[in-house]
Order: sequence, then structure tokens, then C-alpha cells
Amino acid sequence: TQLTHVSLTSYCKSQESRELIQRALLDNDFMKHLEHGQILTIMDCMCPTSLSRGCCVIQEGDDGSTVYVLEEGMVEVTKQGKKLCSIGPGKVFGELAILYNCTRTATVTALTDIKLWAIDRPGFQTIMMRTGLIKHSQY
Ligand code: CMP
Repeated sequence: TQLTHVSLTSYCKSQESRELIQRALLDNDFMKHLEHGQILTIMDCMCPTSLSRGCCVIQEGDDGSTVYVLEEGMVEVTKQGKKLCSIGPGKVFGELAILYNCTRTATVTALTDIKLWAIDRPGFQTIMMRTGLIKHSQY
């Protein structure tokens, strides 16, 4: 696929949400190594979603293509039915499947009604690649 031709869509968000997303990305072991411009672009392109308590956000073993930042509420992470942890506002999840090109490593379920920000694989990869291309052309 020609990721350079994927057009990025940005979504309006409050200053509070912009800051929460940036802090969440910088708090994540994988995302924090990105360039500042990439962090800002990912933040701009994240789209709002909400789900009700009990909904499954991510199913272990599925082909995953969305990275999330939790804005409100709590989710639970389980693996083969065993609880790994709960995650609250200001955290990234769902990043491993895209970063490692693997299936979802765990199930994520909403413990409360939740508000999330989401970015899908084409958008995420385009942001990664565009900056890579810009960098490359500087040499
Ligand atoms: P991903 O594998 O894409 O989808 C499931 C997500 O659950 C995963 O990305 C991580 O964000 C999260 N996750 C997996 N294992 C753990 C863990 N041990 N502790 C916290 N979060 C996890």
C-alpha cells in the first residue's frame, strides 16, 4: 500500500484533551521515543469514541489495527481469562499489535462507561513513514 497517499484527518479537541493525549503518549515506553512533531500529529489525528460498561474494546488474538488513549473511565486487561491490570485515564493501550505487527496480546474490557481517543493503523503508519521520508531526504 502507498501509505504516503493516505490523507490524515485531524479531529477537534479541547486543550485538556490535547494535553491528556500528549502526556499519555509521552508516558508510554514505545511512544515516548517519537519526535515531538509525530506526537503532535498523532494527537491531532486521534478521533473520539465512547463505549458502554462491559464492552470489549480489544479481543486477544484478533488482528488489531487501532491504538487508544483512555480519557475517562477504567478498563481491565486480561489474558487467557486472567486479570493482568486495570488502566485509568491518561494511558495508551492497544499499541503492541501495531508496533510488533502481531495479533492482540490481551483482551481489554470497559469496567465503566469510557471515553477514548483512537487512531488506526493507516494513519499511524503514515505519520511514522512521512517523518521517516523527511528525515531520509535530509541526507
Ligand atoms: P495490544 O496487544 O495491541 O492489545 C492489547 C493491549 O493490552 C496491548 O496492546 C497493551 O496495550 C495492553 N497490555 C497487554 N499486556 C499488558 C500488561 N501485562 N499490562 C498492561 N497492559 C497490557
